[in-house]
Amino acid sequence: MKIAVLNGPNLNLLGTREPAVYGRESLADIEASLRGVAKEVGADLEFAQHNGEGQMIDAIHAWRGKVDGIVINAGAYTHSSLAIRDALTSIAVPFVEVHISNVYAREPERRHSMLASAAVGTVVGLGAYGYELALRGLAKKLAGRA
Ligand code: DQA
Repeated sequence: MKIAVLNGPNLNLLGTREPAVYGRESLADIEASLRGVAKEVGADLEFAQHNGEGQMIDAIHAWRGKVDGIVINAGAYTHSSLAIRDALTSIAVPFVEVHISNVYAREPERRHSMLASAAVGTVVGLGAYGYELALRGLAKKLAGRA
């Protein structure tokens, strides 16, 4: 089973970016621990991070027919991008939405997700561990066990 993990804008700065909100793990740390989880659940992972909305959409399009599922943290585009949701639904690949912080406990403009209505599920507020939960949940879904 092939799963893509897509991170959006500013998530390349994880580890140094507002550590009180996003923790001290870098994106490379998160990707390394996901590789370990992937072995356990029998998934083959592909990672991408883009700061631009169009680049994210292009990455999603490139995964059409090539991946079975996507774990996505779209960063701030989560709250604004109908285009990213359209890209995800266009390729008809199930996805799980992740947020490191609890977006529902933050500013009002972070409390709405453009992606959530099309997601298999969402994981919010559990820090970098949320990526692991998202990967495990998606793998289970894809294996038909959840
Ligand atoms: C985030 C939450 C978003 O509101 C924010 O713009 C981010 C990170 C999170 O992981 O908590 O960039 O997606």
